[in-house]
Amino acid sequence: MSISRNIPFCIPHFPEEDIPGILDRLREPLCSGLLTQGSNVREFEERFANYVGTKYGVALNSCTAALHIALECIGVGKGDEVIVPSNTFVATANAALYCGASPVFAEIDPQTFNINPQDIRNKITPKTKAIIPVHIAGQPCDMEPIMEIAREYNLYVIEDAAHAHGSVYKGQKCGSFGIANCFSFYPTKVMAGAEGGIITTDDEEIAGKARRLRNVGRGGMGPLEITEIGYNYRMNELQAVLCLHQFDNLAKLLEKRNKIAEWYTARLKDIDGIRPPYIGDNVSCSYYAYIIKVNSVNRDELRDKLGQQGIGTSIMFHPVHLQPIYRKLFGYKEGMLPLTEEVSRKVLSLPIYPKMSEDDVDYVVSTLKKEMHNAARHQTGRGK
Ligand SMILES: Cc1ncc(COP(=O)(O)O)c(C=O)c1O
Repeated sequence: MSISRNIPFCIPHFPEEDIPGILDRLREPLCSGLLTQGSNVREFEERFANYVGTKYGVALNSCTAALHIALECIGVGKGDEVIVPSNTFVATANAALYCGASPVFAEIDPQTFNINPQDIRNKITPKTKAIIPVHIAGQPCDMEPIMEIAREYNLYVIEDAAHAHGSVYKGQKCGSFGIANCFSFYPTKVMAGAEGGIITTDDEEIAGKARRLRNVGRGGMGPLEITEIGYNYRMNELQAVLCLHQFDNLAKLLEKRNKIAEWYTARLKDIDGIRPPYIGDNVSCSYYAYIIKVNSVNRDELRDKLGQQGIGTSIMFHPVHLQPIYRKLFGYKEGMLPLTEEVSRKVLSLPIYPKMSEDDVDYVVSTLKKEMHNAARHQTGRGK
Protein backbone atom coordinates (compact mmCIF):
# COMPACT_ATOMS: atom_id res chain seq x y z
CA MET A 1 0.00 0.00 0.00
CA SER A 2 1.37 3.45 -0.87
CA ILE A 3 1.68 6.02 1.88
CA SER A 4 0.20 9.27 0.64
CA ARG A 5 1.23 11.40 3.59
CA ASN A 6 3.66 11.33 6.47
CA ILE A 7 2.37 12.80 9.71
CA PRO A 8 4.64 11.67 12.54
CA PHE A 9 3.43 11.53 16.10
CA CYS A 10 5.58 14.45 17.04
CA ILE A 11 8.22 16.86 15.68
CA PRO A 12 10.20 19.12 18.03
CA HIS A 13 9.91 22.83 17.20
CA PHE A 14 13.25 24.05 15.84
CA PRO A 15 12.31 25.93 12.65
CA GLU A 16 15.03 26.59 10.08
CA GLU A 17 14.89 30.37 10.65
CA ASP A 18 15.66 29.95 14.39
CA ILE A 19 18.72 27.76 13.91
CA PRO A 20 21.28 30.60 13.31
CA GLY A 21 20.18 32.22 16.60
CA ILE A 22 20.53 28.91 18.47
CA LEU A 23 23.98 28.30 16.96
CA ASP A 24 25.05 31.84 17.90
CA ARG A 25 24.02 31.21 21.45
CA LEU A 26 25.96 27.93 21.51
CA ARG A 27 29.15 29.79 20.47
CA GLU A 28 29.80 31.23 23.93
CA PRO A 29 29.88 27.94 25.90
CA LEU A 30 31.74 26.21 23.05
CA CYS A 31 34.43 28.90 22.97
CA SER A 32 34.72 29.45 26.72
CA GLY A 33 34.77 25.74 27.48
CA LEU A 34 32.16 26.27 30.23
CA LEU A 35 30.02 23.48 28.86
CA THR A 36 27.98 22.51 31.87
CA GLN A 37 26.09 24.31 34.64
CA GLY A 38 27.04 27.74 33.33
CA SER A 39 25.22 31.00 32.72
CA ASN A 40 22.66 29.53 30.28
CA VAL A 41 21.61 26.93 32.87
CA ARG A 42 21.30 29.63 35.54
CA GLU A 43 19.31 31.92 33.25
CA PHE A 44 16.99 29.07 32.30
CA GLU A 45 16.43 28.06 35.93
CA GLU A 46 15.54 31.60 36.94
CA ARG A 47 13.24 32.35 34.04
CA PHE A 48 11.42 29.02 34.12
CA ALA A 49 10.85 29.11 37.90
CA ASN A 50 9.62 32.68 37.63
CA TYR A 51 7.18 31.67 34.87
CA VAL A 52 5.81 28.75 36.90
CA GLY A 53 5.54 30.98 39.97
CA THR A 54 8.09 29.36 42.29
CA LYS A 55 11.15 30.91 43.93
CA TYR A 56 13.67 28.33 42.73
CA GLY A 57 14.40 26.17 39.72
CA VAL A 58 17.02 23.40 39.73
CA ALA A 59 17.84 22.22 36.21
CA LEU A 60 18.78 18.58 35.67
CA ASN A 61 19.48 16.16 32.85
CA SER A 62 15.99 14.57 32.90
CA CYS A 63 12.62 14.53 34.61
CA THR A 64 13.45 11.01 35.79
CA ALA A 65 16.37 12.50 37.73
CA ALA A 66 14.12 15.32 38.97
CA LEU A 67 11.54 12.87 40.36
CA HIS A 68 14.27 10.81 42.01
CA ILE A 69 15.97 13.67 43.81
CA ALA A 70 12.71 15.49 44.63
CA LEU A 71 11.71 12.39 46.63
CA GLU A 72 15.15 12.19 48.22
CA CYS A 73 14.98 15.87 49.18
CA ILE A 74 11.78 15.29 51.18
CA GLY A 75 13.34 12.30 52.91
CA VAL A 76 11.49 9.44 51.17
CA GLY A 77 13.36 6.23 51.96
CA LYS A 78 13.18 2.57 52.83
CA GLY A 79 9.78 1.45 54.10
CA ASP A 80 7.91 4.54 52.87
CA GLU A 81 5.04 4.45 50.41
CA VAL A 82 4.45 6.93 47.60
CA ILE A 83 1.01 7.09 45.94
CA VAL A 84 1.21 7.36 42.15
CA PRO A 85 -1.09 6.64 39.22
CA SER A 86 -0.42 3.51 37.19
CA ASN A 87 -1.55 5.41 34.11
CA THR A 88 1.79 7.16 33.66
CA PHE A 89 5.27 6.70 32.27
CA VAL A 90 7.25 4.22 34.34
CA ALA A 91 9.67 6.94 35.58
CA THR A 92 7.02 8.26 38.00
CA ALA A 93 6.84 4.98 39.90
CA ASN A 94 10.52 4.08 39.49
CA ALA A 95 11.46 7.24 41.41
CA ALA A 96 9.99 5.72 44.59
CA LEU A 97 11.92 2.48 44.00
CA TYR A 98 15.21 4.38 43.51
CA CYS A 99 14.73 5.71 47.07
CA GLY A 100 14.01 2.26 48.53
CA ALA A 101 10.31 3.15 48.91
CA SER A 102 7.28 1.44 47.36
CA PRO A 103 5.02 2.97 44.75
CA VAL A 104 1.35 2.40 45.60
CA PHE A 105 -0.92 2.68 42.59
CA ALA A 106 -4.17 4.63 42.65
CA GLU A 107 -7.00 4.50 40.11
CA ILE A 108 -7.78 7.15 37.55
CA ASP A 109 -10.67 9.49 37.10
CA PRO A 110 -12.44 7.93 34.10
CA GLN A 111 -13.11 11.34 32.54
CA THR A 112 -9.69 12.97 32.71
CA PHE A 113 -7.54 9.80 33.01
CA ASN A 114 -5.65 11.58 35.82
CA ILE A 115 -5.21 10.16 39.33
CA ASN A 116 -8.50 10.00 41.24
CA PRO A 117 -8.35 11.94 44.53
CA GLN A 118 -10.90 9.61 46.15
CA ASP A 119 -8.70 6.60 45.41
CA ILE A 120 -5.65 8.42 46.80
CA ARG A 121 -7.58 8.56 50.07
CA ASN A 122 -8.28 4.80 49.86
CA LYS A 123 -4.58 4.02 49.38
CA ILE A 124 -3.22 5.97 52.37
CA THR A 125 -1.56 3.88 55.11
CA PRO A 126 0.65 4.85 58.07
CA LYS A 127 3.64 4.37 55.71
CA THR A 128 2.47 6.89 53.10
CA LYS A 129 4.86 9.78 52.76
CA ALA A 130 4.05 11.45 49.45
CA ILE A 131 1.67 11.67 46.51
CA ILE A 132 2.80 12.18 42.91
CA PRO A 133 -0.07 13.45 40.76
CA VAL A 134 0.76 13.35 37.04
CA HIS A 135 -0.88 15.92 34.76
CA ILE A 136 -1.47 13.50 31.89
CA ALA A 137 -1.15 15.11 28.45
CA GLY A 138 -0.99 18.50 30.19
CA GLN A 139 -4.51 18.22 31.58
CA PRO A 140 -4.18 19.45 35.19
CA CYS A 141 -5.04 17.00 37.96
CA ASP A 142 -7.77 18.06 40.36
CA MET A 143 -5.29 19.76 42.68
CA GLU A 144 -7.75 21.21 45.23
CA PRO A 145 -8.84 17.87 46.76
CA ILE A 146 -5.32 16.44 46.35
CA MET A 147 -3.79 19.30 48.35
CA GLU A 148 -6.57 18.99 50.93
CA ILE A 149 -5.85 15.25 51.40
CA ALA A 150 -2.14 16.03 51.69
CA ARG A 151 -2.81 18.61 54.42
CA GLU A 152 -5.21 16.28 56.25
CA TYR A 153 -2.71 13.37 56.34
CA ASN A 154 0.46 15.45 56.49
CA LEU A 155 1.79 14.14 53.16
CA TYR A 156 4.06 15.77 50.63
CA VAL A 157 2.91 16.43 47.08
CA ILE A 158 5.44 16.22 44.24
CA GLU A 159 3.82 17.09 40.90
CA ASP A 160 4.95 15.14 37.86
CA ALA A 161 4.52 18.01 35.42
CA ALA A 162 6.50 16.29 32.62
CA HIS A 163 3.61 17.09 30.24
CA ALA A 164 2.35 20.29 31.81
CA HIS A 165 4.52 23.25 30.76
CA GLY A 166 2.15 26.21 30.93
CA SER A 167 -0.88 24.20 32.11
CA VAL A 168 -3.03 26.08 34.61
CA TYR A 169 -5.42 24.85 37.32
CA LYS A 170 -7.84 27.45 38.70
CA GLY A 171 -5.52 30.34 37.92
CA GLN A 172 -2.34 28.67 39.22
CA LYS A 173 0.35 27.09 37.06
CA CYS A 174 0.99 23.37 37.29
CA GLY A 175 4.38 22.84 38.89
CA SER A 176 3.70 25.32 41.71
CA PHE A 177 1.36 23.27 43.95
CA GLY A 178 3.67 20.63 45.39
CA ILE A 179 6.63 21.06 47.71
CA ALA A 180 8.85 20.24 44.70
CA ASN A 181 7.72 19.60 41.14
CA CYS A 182 9.26 18.05 38.07
CA PHE A 183 9.22 18.93 34.35
CA SER A 184 10.73 17.14 31.35
CA PHE A 185 12.48 18.54 28.29
CA TYR A 186 12.68 15.24 26.41
CA PRO A 187 12.45 15.79 22.59
CA THR A 188 8.74 14.93 22.34
CA LYS A 189 7.72 17.27 25.14
CA VAL A 190 6.05 20.71 24.87
CA MET A 191 9.54 22.17 25.40
CA ALA A 192 12.18 20.01 23.73
CA GLY A 193 15.62 20.41 25.26
CA ALA A 194 17.08 17.24 23.68
CA GLU A 195 17.06 15.83 27.22
CA GLY A 196 16.50 17.72 30.44
CA GLY A 197 14.42 18.28 33.51
CA ILE A 198 13.85 20.85 36.23
CA ILE A 199 12.60 20.92 39.81
CA THR A 200 10.51 23.94 40.73
CA THR A 201 10.11 24.74 44.43
CA ASP A 202 9.56 27.55 46.93
CA ASP A 203 11.61 25.73 49.53
CA GLU A 204 15.16 27.04 49.87
CA GLU A 205 16.43 23.93 51.66
CA ILE A 206 15.04 21.61 49.01
CA ALA A 207 16.54 23.74 46.24
CA GLY A 208 19.94 23.65 47.99
CA LYS A 209 19.83 19.91 48.58
CA ALA A 210 18.71 19.26 44.98
CA ARG A 211 21.65 21.37 43.70
CA ARG A 212 24.06 19.29 45.76
CA LEU A 213 22.47 15.95 44.83
CA ARG A 214 22.61 16.73 41.11
CA ASN A 215 26.30 17.58 41.39
CA VAL A 216 27.62 14.36 43.00
CA GLY A 217 26.93 15.71 46.47
CA ARG A 218 29.24 18.71 46.17
CA GLY A 219 28.42 21.34 48.75
CA GLY A 220 31.29 23.69 47.97
CA MET A 221 34.65 23.91 46.25
CA GLY A 222 37.03 22.80 48.98
CA PRO A 223 38.83 19.53 49.60
CA LEU A 224 36.13 18.47 52.12
CA GLU A 225 33.15 19.39 50.05
CA ILE A 226 31.09 16.21 49.61
CA THR A 227 28.15 16.59 51.95
CA GLU A 228 25.94 13.77 50.63
CA ILE A 229 25.97 10.82 48.27
CA GLY A 230 24.84 12.52 45.11
CA TYR A 231 24.54 11.80 41.41
CA ASN A 232 25.67 13.26 38.14
CA TYR A 233 22.29 14.70 37.13
CA ARG A 234 23.58 18.05 35.82
CA MET A 235 22.04 19.92 32.90
CA ASN A 236 24.68 21.04 30.42
CA GLU A 237 24.92 24.37 28.61
CA LEU A 238 23.92 22.94 25.22
CA GLN A 239 20.69 21.58 26.70
CA ALA A 240 20.06 24.91 28.44
CA VAL A 241 20.43 26.82 25.15
CA LEU A 242 17.77 24.59 23.58
CA CYS A 243 15.53 24.96 26.64
CA LEU A 244 15.89 28.77 26.47
CA HIS A 245 14.89 28.72 22.81
CA GLN A 246 11.81 26.66 23.63
CA PHE A 247 11.01 28.86 26.60
CA ASP A 248 11.20 32.02 24.46
CA ASN A 249 8.62 30.41 22.15
CA LEU A 250 6.44 28.77 24.80
CA ALA A 251 3.41 31.10 24.52
CA LYS A 252 3.34 30.56 20.75
CA LEU A 253 3.81 26.78 21.10
CA LEU A 254 0.96 26.50 23.58
CA GLU A 255 -1.32 28.61 21.42
CA LYS A 256 -0.67 26.40 18.40
CA ARG A 257 -1.16 23.17 20.36
CA ASN A 258 -4.49 24.51 21.64
CA LYS A 259 -5.50 25.47 18.10
CA ILE A 260 -4.73 21.95 16.80
CA ALA A 261 -6.73 20.46 19.67
CA GLU A 262 -9.63 22.73 18.75
CA TRP A 263 -9.45 21.54 15.12
CA TYR A 264 -9.46 17.91 16.24
CA THR A 265 -12.30 18.30 18.72
CA ALA A 266 -14.53 20.13 16.24
CA ARG A 267 -14.10 17.26 13.77
CA LEU A 268 -14.23 14.34 16.23
CA LYS A 269 -16.97 15.30 18.61
CA ASP A 270 -19.78 13.81 16.57
CA ILE A 271 -18.06 10.58 15.55
CA ASP A 272 -19.69 7.56 17.13
CA GLY A 273 -17.24 5.42 19.04
CA ILE A 274 -14.61 8.15 19.57
CA ARG A 275 -14.35 10.21 22.71
CA PRO A 276 -12.21 13.35 22.42
CA PRO A 277 -10.29 14.47 25.52
CA TYR A 278 -12.37 15.77 28.38
CA ILE A 279 -10.98 19.05 29.68
CA GLY A 280 -12.28 20.13 33.08
CA ASP A 281 -13.61 23.59 33.98
CA ASN A 282 -11.33 26.36 35.02
CA VAL A 283 -8.15 24.77 33.67
CA SER A 284 -5.96 25.28 30.67
CA CYS A 285 -4.18 22.36 29.06
CA SER A 286 -0.75 22.37 27.40
CA TYR A 287 -2.01 19.66 25.01
CA TYR A 288 1.26 17.80 25.19
CA ALA A 289 -0.85 14.98 23.79
CA TYR A 290 -4.30 14.72 22.24
CA ILE A 291 -5.69 11.49 23.69
CA ILE A 292 -8.87 10.01 22.31
CA LYS A 293 -10.72 6.97 23.62
CA VAL A 294 -11.66 4.44 20.95
CA ASN A 295 -14.83 2.80 22.21
CA SER A 296 -16.30 0.86 19.32
CA VAL A 297 -13.44 -0.81 17.40
CA ASN A 298 -10.15 -2.51 18.23
CA ARG A 299 -7.68 0.25 19.11
CA ASP A 300 -4.55 -1.70 18.12
CA GLU A 301 -5.90 -2.64 14.70
CA LEU A 302 -6.97 0.96 14.13
CA ARG A 303 -3.51 2.14 15.16
CA ASP A 304 -1.88 -0.24 12.66
CA LYS A 305 -4.14 1.00 9.86
CA LEU A 306 -3.29 4.63 10.65
CA GLY A 307 0.41 3.74 10.69
CA GLN A 308 0.11 2.12 7.25
CA GLN A 309 -1.22 5.44 5.97
CA GLY A 310 1.65 7.49 7.38
CA ILE A 311 0.04 8.60 10.66
CA GLY A 312 2.15 8.21 13.79
CA THR A 313 0.35 7.63 17.07
CA SER A 314 1.24 6.67 20.61
CA ILE A 315 -0.37 5.00 23.59
CA MET A 316 -0.46 6.91 26.86
CA PHE A 317 -0.11 4.72 28.76
CA HIS A 318 0.44 1.01 29.22
CA PRO A 319 -0.22 0.67 32.98
CA VAL A 320 2.95 0.59 35.04
CA HIS A 321 1.67 -2.12 37.41
CA LEU A 322 1.35 -4.54 34.46
CA GLN A 323 4.86 -4.00 33.11
CA PRO A 324 6.83 -7.28 33.27
CA ILE A 325 9.30 -6.03 35.88
CA TYR A 326 6.51 -4.77 38.15
CA ARG A 327 4.63 -8.07 37.80
CA LYS A 328 7.83 -9.94 38.60
CA LEU A 329 8.83 -7.79 41.58
CA PHE A 330 5.39 -7.32 43.13
CA GLY A 331 3.18 -10.04 41.66
CA TYR A 332 0.71 -7.56 40.17
CA LYS A 333 -1.96 -8.95 37.85
CA GLU A 334 -4.78 -7.77 35.63
CA GLY A 335 -7.82 -6.74 37.60
CA MET A 336 -5.94 -4.74 40.21
CA LEU A 337 -6.92 -1.37 38.69
CA PRO A 338 -9.92 -2.06 36.42
CA LEU A 339 -10.53 1.51 35.26
CA THR A 340 -6.88 2.15 34.42
CA GLU A 341 -6.68 -1.16 32.59
CA GLU A 342 -9.86 -0.57 30.61
CA VAL A 343 -8.76 2.90 29.54
CA SER A 344 -5.27 1.69 28.62
CA ARG A 345 -6.80 -0.71 26.07
CA LYS A 346 -8.74 2.11 24.41
CA VAL A 347 -6.65 5.28 24.46
CA LEU A 348 -4.85 6.52 21.40
CA SER A 349 -2.74 9.69 21.18
CA LEU A 350 -3.02 11.40 17.83
CA PRO A 351 -0.22 13.46 16.25
CA ILE A 352 0.13 16.95 17.70
CA TYR A 353 3.08 19.29 17.16
CA PRO A 354 3.35 23.00 16.39
CA LYS A 355 4.10 22.59 12.68
CA MET A 356 0.87 20.65 12.06
CA SER A 357 -1.57 22.33 9.69
CA GLU A 358 -5.36 22.21 9.60
CA ASP A 359 -4.99 20.15 6.45
CA ASP A 360 -2.87 17.59 8.36
CA VAL A 361 -5.63 17.38 10.98
CA ASP A 362 -8.19 16.85 8.21
CA TYR A 363 -6.10 13.99 6.83
CA VAL A 364 -5.78 12.33 10.26
CA VAL A 365 -9.49 12.66 10.99
CA SER A 366 -10.69 11.52 7.57
CA THR A 367 -8.35 8.50 7.69
CA LEU A 368 -9.55 7.73 11.21
CA LYS A 369 -13.19 7.96 10.13
CA LYS A 370 -12.60 5.73 7.11
CA GLU A 371 -10.78 3.10 9.16
CA MET A 372 -13.39 3.20 11.96
CA HIS A 373 -16.05 2.61 9.35
CA ASN A 374 -14.10 -0.28 7.72
CA ALA A 375 -13.41 -1.88 11.09
CA ALA A 376 -17.06 -1.63 12.13
CA ARG A 377 -18.15 -3.26 8.85
CA HIS A 378 -15.57 -5.98 9.32
CA GLN A 379 -16.73 -6.59 12.90
CA THR A 380 -20.38 -6.87 11.79
CA GLY A 381 -19.24 -9.31 9.09
CA ARG A 382 -17.34 -11.39 11.64
CA GLY A 383 -20.41 -11.55 13.88
CA LYS A 384 -22.57 -13.13 11.16
C1 LIG B 1 4.64 11.45 32.96
C2 LIG B 1 6.12 11.38 32.77
N1 LIG B 1 6.92 11.49 33.84
C3 LIG B 1 8.26 11.45 33.72
C4 LIG B 1 8.86 11.27 32.51
C5 LIG B 1 10.36 11.17 32.42
O1 LIG B 1 10.90 12.23 31.70
P1 LIG B 1 12.40 12.17 31.15
O2 LIG B 1 12.38 11.45 29.86
O3 LIG B 1 12.77 13.64 30.99
O4 LIG B 1 13.23 11.52 32.19
C6 LIG B 1 8.09 11.17 31.36
C7 LIG B 1 8.71 11.00 30.04
O5 LIG B 1 8.14 10.68 29.05
C8 LIG B 1 6.67 11.22 31.49
O6 LIG B 1 5.87 11.08 30.42
